[in-house]
Amino acid sequence: MENIEKIAIIGAGGFGREVKCLIDDINSKEKQYEVIGFFDDNIEVGKSINGIKNLGSIESINNIDYNLNIALGVGVPEIKKKLISSINNTNIKFPNLIHPNVIKSTDDVAIGIGNIICAGNIITCNIDIQDFVTLNLSCTVGHDTTIKSYSSFMPSVNISGEVIIEENVYVGTGAKIINNLSIGTNTIVGAGAVVSKSLPENCTAVGIPAKPIKFHN
Ligand SMILES: CC(C)(COP(=O)(O)OP(=O)(O)OC[C@H]1O[C@@H](n2cnc3c(N)ncnc32)[C@H](O)[C@@H]1OP(=O)(O)O)[C@@H](O)C(=O)NCCC(=O)NCCS
Repeated sequence: MENIEKIAIIGAGGFGREVKCLIDDINSKEKQYEVIGFFDDNIEVGKSINGIKNLGSIESINNIDYNLNIALGVGVPEIKKKLISSINNTNIKFPNLIHPNVIKSTDDVAIGIGNIICAGNIITCNIDIQDFVTLNLSCTVGHDTTIKSYSSFMPSVNISGEVIIEENVYVGTGAKIINNLSIGTNTIVGAGAVVSKSLPENCTAVGIPAKPIKFHN
C-alpha cells in the first residue's frame, strides 16, 4: 500500500530549491513524499517558489499539529544547528534524504537523522555519518571515516579514508582531504583546498596545502 508522507523544506534559497529537486528524484523512483511547502523567514507567506508555497516562518513549525517531515535546505553548519535547536515539536521528523543514484556500501555504514545526500555521492565502507550532515553533489567519502553532526560538504569534495570530521565543519567546493587526519569543530575549509595535515578547531584554512588564515569563535 502507498504510504506517502508530507515533507516541507526549511529555506527556499538556492540549496532549498535543490533539496526540492532531490525529493522529486526520490519520488520519481517510488513516490514517498508530498512536498507541502517551504518555511522561510525572508519570503512572503503564500508566495510560490518553483510551484511550492512558502508556508510561513521557522517559528511556526512549532505549531504544526500533524506529522510532518522537515528537510534542511541550508548548508551553513551554524545556521543548521540553530534551526534544529529552535524546533521542539514532536510532530516533526527529520528523515535522511538520499538521492537514488548514491552509491553506498552496506558494510558498516551508519547514518543518523536529517542528513541530505545529493546526487552523485559515493560512500564506501565502515563510515559513520551522524546527524544533519549535508553532502552536496558528487562528493566521495572513503573508508573508516566519521562525519560528525551539522558538517557540510559542498560539491565535489573528496574525503579519503580514516578521516574524522568534527561537528559544524564546512568544506568548500572541490576540496580534497587526504587520509588519516582530522578537522576540528567549526573549521571552514576553502574551495579547492588540499587538506594534507589535521586542522585545528575554529579556523578558516585555504590553499594547497591547506593552512589556517584566520581563527574565529
Ligand atoms: C575560504 C572562504 C570561506 C573564505 O571566505 P572569507 O572568510 O570571507 O575570506 P576572504 O574572502 O576575506 O579571503 C581571505 C583571503 O583568503 C583568500 N581565499 C579565499 N578563499 C580562498 C580559497 N578557496 N583558496 C585560496 N585562497 C582563498 C582570499 O583571496 C583572501 O586573500 P588575501 O587576504 O590575500 O586577499 C571562501 O573564500 C570559500 O572558499 N568558500 C567556499 C565557497 C563554496 O565552496 N561555495 C559552494 C557553494 S555550493
